[in-house]
Amino acid sequence: MIDIHSHILPNIDDGSENMEMSLAMLRTSVASGVTDIIATPHVNRHGVIPAWQTIEEKAEELKRAAQEQQIPIRIHTGAEIEFNGDVMRFLEKGSRDYCLAGSPYVLLEFTDQTQPDIAEHMLFALQLRGFWPVLAHIERFPQILADKERLLSWAEKGILYQCNAGSFTGYFGPKCQTRVEELYHNGLIHFLGSDGHRVEFRTTDLREAHEVLDKLAAKEKKESLWQQAEANAQFILKGRVLYPDVPQKWQKKKKGFFSRLFG
Ligand SMILES: [Fe+2]
Repeated sequence: MIDIHSHILPNIDDGSENMEMSLAMLRTSVASGVTDIIATPHVNRHGVIPAWQTIEEKAEELKRAAQEQQIPIRIHTGAEIEFNGDVMRFLEKGSRDYCLAGSPYVLLEFTDQTQPDIAEHMLFALQLRGFWPVLAHIERFPQILADKERLLSWAEKGILYQCNAGSFTGYFGPKCQTRVEELYHNGLIHFLGSDGHRVEFRTTDLREAHEVLDKLAAKEKKESLWQQAEANAQFILKGRVLYPDVPQKWQKKKKGFFSRLFG
């Protein structure tokens, strides 16, 4: 598996507090079947923009420590960028700073205040600069998910959606779970991430979500989102364009859709 969203770098945001914790988080990732993890520290949160060089240096340090400890995982650089007008100042055309694994993909985080109309203009402006937006844990933003037509039209225009694995297990509450199920039902989840911050809570552990997704796939007799998300994430690592199919119409989730999982 490839975890495209994590806060494993020590001492840079509200994620890992030190190298020891970072290594423990990586061990959990490996136990979850993760071979590649993208470090995506918060950038532009409350206006704080760590230098790209700092992110690269911290990732190098962690790589070295993981190697010494013989933890079999590849670490890639990235960022989770809070999405407001300021991004146009530091996401410069042609630069790959703050991008995922040196690709044109950028992981963008909305806030509760994000206005869909304004976001739309900015997303397309970023695309014109050559960036390929991935929206972080889109299931957390009811104001965005309320407009299904827009959600579909963004996907049509190449905007991609990441969801947190923990949303499938109910870790982020019943509302997030319902929303992630709707997105799943509509085939609108392109990437999965742990969004892991710590070792005791909000961890990098993906095992429970993996089990939920595989059970669901077995019941529906189709490929598990676990596999699809991994295949999709390969496009990020290779810096290749991913242009998945988008449903023509939003399908309402059937009653009891997810309860069948445990039925
Ligand atoms: Fe995050």
